[in-house]
Amino acid sequence: MARMPSTSPVLSVAAAPPTAVEADVLVIGTRPAEEGAVTLVALDDAAFAGIPETLRMLGHTGALDETLRIPAPSGVAASSLLAVGLGRSELTPEALRSAAGTAARALSTAPRIALALPALSAADTQAVLEGAVMGGYRFTAYRRSESVANTTEIVAVVAHPEAESAVTAAGVIAEAVALVRDLVNTPPNDLYPASFVARARAAAAGLPLEFEEWGPEELTAGGFGGILGVGQGSSRPPRLLVVRYAGTEGAPHLALVGKGITFDSGGLSLKPAAAMVGMKYDMTGAATALGAVIAAARLGLPTRVTAWLCLAENLPSSTAMRPNDVLTIRGGMTVEVLNTDAEGRLVMADGLVAASEEHPDAIVDIATLTGAARVALGERYAGLMGDDTLVEEVRAAAADTGELVWPMPLPAELRPLLKSDVADIANAKPGNTAAGMLLAGVFLREFVGRTSEEPDAPRIPWAHLDIAGPANNPGSPFGYTPKGPSGVMVRLLVRLAERLSAK
Ligand code: BES
Ligand code: MN
Ligand code: ZN
Repeated sequence: MARMPSTSPVLSVAAAPPTAVEADVLVIGTRPAEEGAVTLVALDDAAFAGIPETLRMLGHTGALDETLRIPAPSGVAASSLLAVGLGRSELTPEALRSAAGTAARALSTAPRIALALPALSAADTQAVLEGAVMGGYRFTAYRRSESVANTTEIVAVVAHPEAESAVTAAGVIAEAVALVRDLVNTPPNDLYPASFVARARAAAAGLPLEFEEWGPEELTAGGFGGILGVGQGSSRPPRLLVVRYAGTEGAPHLALVGKGITFDSGGLSLKPAAAMVGMKYDMTGAATALGAVIAAARLGLPTRVTAWLCLAENLPSSTAMRPNDVLTIRGGMTVEVLNTDAEGRLVMADGLVAASEEHPDAIVDIATLTGAARVALGERYAGLMGDDTLVEEVRAAAADTGELVWPMPLPAELRPLLKSDVADIANAKPGNTAAGMLLAGVFLREFVGRTSEEPDAPRIPWAHLDIAGPANNPGSPFGYTPKGPSGVMVRLLVRLAERLSAK
């Protein structure tokens, strides 16, 4: 637990000619041109005149994500150049973020890097800096002192000096992503409900955030049968951690509910050995909600954000919940547990009910909820379910941040699959393999409350993100995404909070 979190590099902008910027490496953008030639993007200084031919001779084509490092020519203050291919893609902020990430990944041991990518606006500059920090991320806390160098300074070379605000925003956003990745990377012997809370408090030190921690006694008194039931098999008791950012007076209120299973063995419905590996990732939703509320506070957004982190460890033992146990969720709904491995929906049910009691303007929940989401959408897209209007808002936020969500239905005809012989609802349909992601969403919807105490008030607008696929990148790194925890959807949640207050 005394392991050091990753330290973030210092960010800045330089409104100077690219030739004049001092750095170990200057990153330049390239594109393919006619007949195997390469062109540099937005670099017309005479010092670069011979570079396209040098790159071509060394086999660099300017194809998307190709990189090549060469010595800097005379007249350039940096020691070397890194060409990063932009391909024929349109230079959207996401394309710049991705190229910056690819470059930073190739340079993660260079102390000071400067990026002369074509950033034409503050949004572009923010994207370049975000991409560079996210791409350069490494998690070395558990390696015996290799003492490898890290990138400590990142400079965006820009034409417009007003980009200073982009520096602050990029730093806040990229650090929130790094926090999520650090928490998810931390092995489950060190990360459990109580230590998650301690890490959250440390990450929020000095920020205008209020913490409310519910331990086993408070959870029992409060009727949180889902969190308690899932956590009862572990010697390390569960927690509900509420993190509040007040925003400005009268601001819209966004509630985030995150699944925080610090390890999911499946419980008595034990997972097979191979499927259990990686289940330290099962707290990604809670880490993401935490990262978002911290970023909202650091940015001083005019939105009120409350994060509900449902933290428990799902283990088998003589005290574990059994299949056929009936749990009473906060607010009184009873759930028959037919599969102890469908534990995420049990802790989330408590979180959704508690979040609803404050009648927020919107609830977004985020969870590595189902293997079925990975089967349906692969490892890059999050499944997005819920009320149409809020789903559209989430899609718009995702379009702004370059994150990938895909809308999925919540078919009413699935609800009967969750009928229990004894309780109000069952947590799973044993043997059923159809629409597992949707069935979990249909279960969660039952716990979303109403906009006021009136019994027939409309339901609170709600959206559900199943991130079981994109939470982890098990393959090769790409763009700003390393192998391992991706940190996706933090940026989306921050952007959503921003959009809600702009209405
Ligand atoms: N944490 C898992 C979902 C998961 C699986 C996330 C693979 C990431 C990768 C969840 O708790 C789970 O086990 N879900 C079950 C539900 C089933 C028992 C109804 C599943 O998906 O198999
Ligand atoms: Mn499970
Ligand atoms: Zn789980």
